[in-house]
Amino acid sequence: MKTAVSLYTLALTAALCGLATASPVSTAGDDATVRGLETQEWSGGLVGGITGPADELTSHLLGSIGDAAKADDRERVIDLLRSLEPKRSPSTEEEAIAIIEKIYKSGADSIIERQAQLIANGLVSGTVEDLFEYASGFAEGENGHDNDNPEPPTSVYPQAEPCDAPYSIPESDLRSAIFIPETFTYGEKLPVILFPGTGSTGYIAYRGNLIPLLTDSDWADPVWVNVPGLMLDDAQNNSEYAAYAINYIASLSGRNVSIVSWSQGCPDTQWALKYWPSTRGVTSDHIAVSGDYKGSLIADAASLSVVLSDPSVVQQRTGSSFIETLRSDGGDSAYVPTTTVYTATDLIVQPQSGRGASAYMLDERSVGVLNAQTQVVCKGRPAGSIHTHENMLGNPLTVALVEDALTHEGPGDLSRLELDEVCGSYQAPGLELGDLLVTESVLAVAAFGLALYLPKAVVEPRLKEYAAAPVACPQEVSGNHTIDERTTVQF
Ligand SMILES: *[C@@H]1O[C@H](CO)[C@@H](O)[C@H](O)[C@H]1NC(C)=O
Ligand SMILES: *[C@@H]1O[C@H](CO)[C@@H](O)[C@H](O)[C@H]1NC(C)=O
Ligand SMILES: *[C@@H]1O[C@H](CO)[C@@H](O)[C@H](O)[C@H]1NC(C)=O
Repeated sequence: MKTAVSLYTLALTAALCGLATASPVSTAGDDATVRGLETQEWSGGLVGGITGPADELTSHLLGSIGDAAKADDRERVIDLLRSLEPKRSPSTEEEAIAIIEKIYKSGADSIIERQAQLIANGLVSGTVEDLFEYASGFAEGENGHDNDNPEPPTSVYPQAEPCDAPYSIPESDLRSAIFIPETFTYGEKLPVILFPGTGSTGYIAYRGNLIPLLTDSDWADPVWVNVPGLMLDDAQNNSEYAAYAINYIASLSGRNVSIVSWSQGCPDTQWALKYWPSTRGVTSDHIAVSGDYKGSLIADAASLSVVLSDPSVVQQRTGSSFIETLRSDGGDSAYVPTTTVYTATDLIVQPQSGRGASAYMLDERSVGVLNAQTQVVCKGRPAGSIHTHENMLGNPLTVALVEDALTHEGPGDLSRLELDEVCGSYQAPGLELGDLLVTESVLAVAAFGLALYLPKAVVEPRLKEYAAAPVACPQEVSGNHTIDERTTVQF
């Protein structure tokens, strides 16, 4: 057993050594907190410096993937990713955490290399081919987007209210993307919509964390949205799925809903709340995990490589039209009670610490906002240690805040949590090593999805009419004065 572990860690070290090129991810604001983390010891039993022949192969492969991405050789990136069969998976949570820490510190300089590191080091569940299948469109059952959902009691399409933006996607597509499990109570429990991020579906993103945790709870009733195209299409299109799901599930349940979003799902949900104002009236809480309301510096870099320039990735560059338009006219402030939880050690979204964090939400309308950075709230504790963009979905602080927000009016409130207990584990109670690996697999699926997506976006998708040139609302107001006054105050 011990021997197996150290052979494994040798492979890991070799894999990581081949990549330790660029400087670590920079973080604005709480650098001291992050530096403090790097000295923290996790008993993963990693040893450094020695490589063996088999491990050089992995190391070589990882380097080649980075080179192929830089050379815009999409087919080669995909082939190399598929050949990254991990030799074995970590056998304990501690070992998995130690690998995550190593990957964080390796400072690989592209999204695709980081994703390749996760795969090569066994931070995946199932085979690489399974993950490839998911990314190439395997969409059945709980992962499907052709679900047969009933008519809502009240019509929510083409508009639930006169000020809502027009949808571009047919109602049948928007509705069939929602997966309603057999456990759904249609209003007896609080409906919660789980909305995915870039490179995933609701099922892929949440199957290792909130789906199992919420399904058995008496305070939440989850459904999830499997947006076709793995959220790589135009983010404005993806937002239509969020807007429709909110109004549809609220109508179906006869009560307010709450929405949990992850990654790109956070700005998409904010976009939905902004341009479909009807959704605000029926949304009790938005809980945002690893959100990028300011885009991500890492998407800037990803977009430099044609291999990764998918429409929604280009839209998540800092300063993109999508991000600037979202943030304009008060879109950088919450529309409904919002709880946003994020990690400074995010390998996908940066910056992600302090007030400069991409996930940081303002509250000019005083609806209630909680900004919670795990390294601040759980400083020096397992929940505040090195967590990735994806495993924030199973972070105990995330899960405690989801429960707290859903069971109280307004956003989550840290003063109601037993932080000593909450911060004391790496994953939320009820989650095991297998769940961590499933959650980490989300990024491996995303890697395949990002590379597979066609056509690549040479330029950012155009803003839709309702966002580029918003009309006065309510539209029926006809006095010139009223219209003039309202043109700048949209929604
Ligand atoms: C967005 O949705 C519209 C309507 O279905 C479609 O015509 C368009 O191709 C989509 N754009 C992208 C980039 O997915
Ligand atoms: C529904 O959500 C809205 C917006 O957050 C809120 O104002 C309202 O109080 C909620 N209604 C109920 C019954 O919780
Ligand atoms: C509205 O504006 C138009 C054109 O500027 C003008 O002809 C019209 O008299 C105005 N109507 C009112 C009610 O002010």
